[in-house]
Amino acid sequence: MPAMADTLTLIRPDDWHLHVRDGAALQTVTAHSARQFARALIMPNLRPPITTVAQAQAYRARILAAVPEGLAFEPVMSLYLTDRLPPEEIARAAQTADVRALKLYPAGATTNSDAGVTDIRRIYPTLEAMQRHGLLLLVHGEVVDPAVDIFDREAVFIERVLTPLRRDFPELKIVLEHITTQEGAQYVRDAGPYTGATITAHHLLYNRNAIFAGGLRPHYYCLPVLKREMHRRSLVQAATSGHPRFFLGTDSAPHPAHLKEHALGCAGCYTALTALEMYAQAFEAAGALDRLEAFASFHGADFYGLARNTGTVTLRREVWTVPDALPYGEGATLKPLSGGEALVWRLDNRSPEAA
Ligand code: DOR
Ligand code: ZN
Repeated sequence: MPAMADTLTLIRPDDWHLHVRDGAALQTVTAHSARQFARALIMPNLRPPITTVAQAQAYRARILAAVPEGLAFEPVMSLYLTDRLPPEEIARAAQTADVRALKLYPAGATTNSDAGVTDIRRIYPTLEAMQRHGLLLLVHGEVVDPAVDIFDREAVFIERVLTPLRRDFPELKIVLEHITTQEGAQYVRDAGPYTGATITAHHLLYNRNAIFAGGLRPHYYCLPVLKREMHRRSLVQAATSGHPRFFLGTDSAPHPAHLKEHALGCAGCYTALTALEMYAQAFEAAGALDRLEAFASFHGADFYGLARNTGTVTLRREVWTVPDALPYGEGATLKPLSGGEALVWRLDNRSPEAA
């Protein structure tokens, strides 16, 4: 057996699915992501949502202002699709380098999705403009039909919504975000060069038992919800396969701890603090650490048609315990998903380094 390596150096990775919120929360979480990643695709589900290029540019400036001295971090912006987003806004978005994608939330599917799309056919002119201008469609792939079991919502979405959409817009680049099922992974493999998927660290590491281990654990609750072990294995297989259309997207989604530890707990796992360490743990468990760099640093940039990064980050083999809770705005705390647990990799303090 080859000796276990003690360090792992990667070209700086990108996070292709990230929530950074706004205001005081933005200050806390942007610093964590900027240490880990060179770029991140910023989700637009603020209240109210980011629906215009002007709002996206103002939000981008607020994010940049929260990046700590000495770190380089580039927010790549997305707009929030509503039933009424005009095709002219797509033309405007295509003229800036700052906005690359539009996010489709089925109305009511998740946090701040009330303004989302009620019927995909209503936005066909907008999707047509996106296809023409080369903007990506990022999809929260769950049906909202209450008759569909929560664990089946992704598979049913693929059947009812994504398959016809894919057929009607054959050259629209689509990212099925945070896939959680064997069906999701298989769909993306079969769908051809215009379809990709992000995979979170938590869906690689945990199955749905984690939500109920010894009692109800709200910090493991996110949407799409964790699935059974066979699905987790399918996701690990997809992420570590080297397939170029699977790439890193944390879906790190911070909420104040008191709103997660609540009778109506918010969906979202906060993973930005330790994202690379968590992905490294999942890849190592699969015997595929050598595949982490392509998944984390190449495939996403290639799918988005952006240049790969140049600098590097280094992970060291070191067992350390993640803090339980961090200050998060006035009187609140933020609990990282890995809080209190031991991780076996640690991002080097000096990371990232310039090329
Ligand atoms: O768990 C989730 N949290 N899933 C989402 O789709 C949204 C996110 C959030 O914004 O909190
Ligand atoms: Zn998300």
